[in-house]
Amino acid sequence: MTRTVAVFVGSLRKASLNRRTAEALARMAPENLRLEIVEIGDLPHYNEDLERDPPAAWTRFRDEVRDKQALLFVTPEYNRSLPSALKNAIDVGSRPYGKGVFSGKPGAVITVSPGQYGGFGANHHLRQSMVFLDVPMMQQPEAYLAKAGGIFAEDGSLRDEGAKDLLRRFIDGFAAWVERLAR
Ligand code: FNR
Repeated sequence: MTRTVAVFVGSLRKASLNRRTAEALARMAPENLRLEIVEIGDLPHYNEDLERDPPAAWTRFRDEVRDKQALLFVTPEYNRSLPSALKNAIDVGSRPYGKGVFSGKPGAVITVSPGQYGGFGANHHLRQSMVFLDVPMMQQPEAYLAKAGGIFAEDGSLRDEGAKDLLRRFIDGFAAWVERLAR
């Protein structure tokens, strides 16, 4: 059975290493997973007052995620934490209280950085929110893709064998995690 995965990319820029990583993972995913990027760049900042008449972009986002069976976060680290666009998407998807679209779905995170720590801080800040949102996050393999500046060729293909290996182990592990937990 094919499970559809909502993929959230924490960077909004066109040439994003994280978007390229998400696209590479989609190509490498085993048959039981279909990865679909859910866009987050157009979501107005979360404001409870807007729940009376939610912005169209919030409704579009919530509907897209509600349909999916699993969650995959592919994100850079900004100032040792999550990019605000991604945190905003999490806040939007988590409300109204009791009607969040993430709860109970198996999840995983990979952080990607040209730096040497691989986004460790962002990876674990995200996990903190997922505990509260009742999203069982894959624990192993952990995935901190460091020194990622040169791993992609001009056409977006992955040219670094070490990175390829890490991504393969990660997506295969996630496929097994989803099989165990998806409803
Ligand atoms: C960064 N960057 C960064 N990198 C890192 O490893 N740890 C960090 O704390 C930060 N902080 C940070 C803050 C801000 C505001 C920016 C714009 C950037 C560098 C970041 O990893 C780099 O720009 C990546 O290329 C961003 O990911 P994408 O856009 O390539 O996917």
